[in-house]
Amino acid sequence: MTGGDTSTGPDGETDELPPGPDGLPVLGNTHQYLNQPMGFFDELAGYGDVVHCEFPRIDAVAVFHPEQIGEVLLEQGTYERWNFDELKQLLDYEVAPRGLTFTRGEKWKQQRHFLQPMFGLDRLEGFSSAMVSATERLIEGWDDGEEVVINEEFSGLTLSILTNSLFDFDLGEHRQVITEAADELQAMANMSGLSAVEMLLPSWVPTHGNRRYERAMDAFDETVDALIEARRATPGEYDDFLTMMLETEDDHEYTMTDAEVHDHLITFLIAGHETTAMALTFTWLLLATHPDQRDRVSREATAVLDGPPTANDLADLTVTEHVAKEAMRLYPPAGMLFREAVKETTLGGYRVPEGTKLLLPQFTVHTDDRWFDAPEQFRPERFTDARSDGRPEFAYFPFGGGPHQCIGMHFAMMELKHIIPMLARRVEFELLSSPQPETNMWLTLQPSEDVRMRVHKQ
Ligand code: HEM
Repeated sequence: MTGGDTSTGPDGETDELPPGPDGLPVLGNTHQYLNQPMGFFDELAGYGDVVHCEFPRIDAVAVFHPEQIGEVLLEQGTYERWNFDELKQLLDYEVAPRGLTFTRGEKWKQQRHFLQPMFGLDRLEGFSSAMVSATERLIEGWDDGEEVVINEEFSGLTLSILTNSLFDFDLGEHRQVITEAADELQAMANMSGLSAVEMLLPSWVPTHGNRRYERAMDAFDETVDALIEARRATPGEYDDFLTMMLETEDDHEYTMTDAEVHDHLITFLIAGHETTAMALTFTWLLLATHPDQRDRVSREATAVLDGPPTANDLADLTVTEHVAKEAMRLYPPAGMLFREAVKETTLGGYRVPEGTKLLLPQFTVHTDDRWFDAPEQFRPERFTDARSDGRPEFAYFPFGGGPHQCIGMHFAMMELKHIIPMLARRVEFELLSSPQPETNMWLTLQPSEDVRMRVHKQ
């Protein structure tokens, strides 16, 4: 596929392919992407709203306009989720293939329909106490004046909330196995440190990291299977996702295999852990450098809350909500969405051949001055109803949109609206590392270096 040479798409049907930069042979634009994902996509956006780029064995089109982003997300049948088959062959990297993030077509529909009710606001209320107690434990564990790596602290916090929500019982020695697997998954996923050439190495090359990863995942598989088997044998009074899944089975004609339950649990663990931790990390990074906004969050927490937040308080925490949304605008945890054209089509006036991968870079679209004034500035007020009016729907899509929209969105927002005000009331963070860290991107968008903070207890 070669790029066209105009920067805006012509109207109507066309044979013209999208324009784009020249890449290196074989590697295409891989090196530019890995070195600086945000910068690379800013450069691509200079070619137009629908732009061609290349990666090893992959022809891709990046989409920057909300209208076409909506088309790609909503038109199932033309665009399907890209399941990274090409990369899986390279990396032997297949996690939870029967879970919601990898199934397609009818199977995905059936699963989504089955799992959706578990993530409704009414069902999620029961997790409020797990969110409060994990946050309290975190705060209690800090000494006044202690220096912490806040991204790691938040990663531990969201993992703890998730494991308690998936399995509401004392995990004992299993906790270690689950934590290790989650850490290994993150390390495996965090390949942005790899050179472009290393990216081409097949994963059967038995590197130290691969072996450790495989051991951790084998132990994890065994543990989760044992937990499912035990729960099926003695269904107790547990208030957790595992119970919900097994109980939901009773209301459906369709029964999940243990392998599917297992893959869903892993999927939630991966999809819900680091994303929420990154939202918290960037929120507090921004609050630490914007004391006026930090004061607004504290004042709201004091005005709305008597004690720890409850599900009933959440609707009144609007400043907190705007702050979290604005942090996810500037630093969207998912970073980018991926689709594949399953048939030839046109987009923004350009021809998109079957098999083309579509890249929807949230971080570029979220900072486009066509939709956001002073887009580089942290201004949570832009999410008030009055100021959101008229903004195109897909100018802001941290949780995606259309049928694959994040199933855990309410759970994640609930976590953010518990944790942010609880921290605001009890802790002052002094930022010790860079206020504007470089970012990199693989599974999630993350700071390239640890974010260090000094904790001052109030
Ligand atoms: C701030 C936190 C989170 C962010 C920013 C986020 C973002 C996203 C995005 C952008 C998608 C759509 C992907 C696509 O269209 O290709 C997605 C899907 C998904 N998310 Fe989240 N997520 C978050 C938290 C969670 C949590 C807490 C869970 C589960 C407990 C979760 C589970 C999932 C699942 C299972 C999918 C796949 C849905 C489907 O394809 O039907 N996410 N998420």
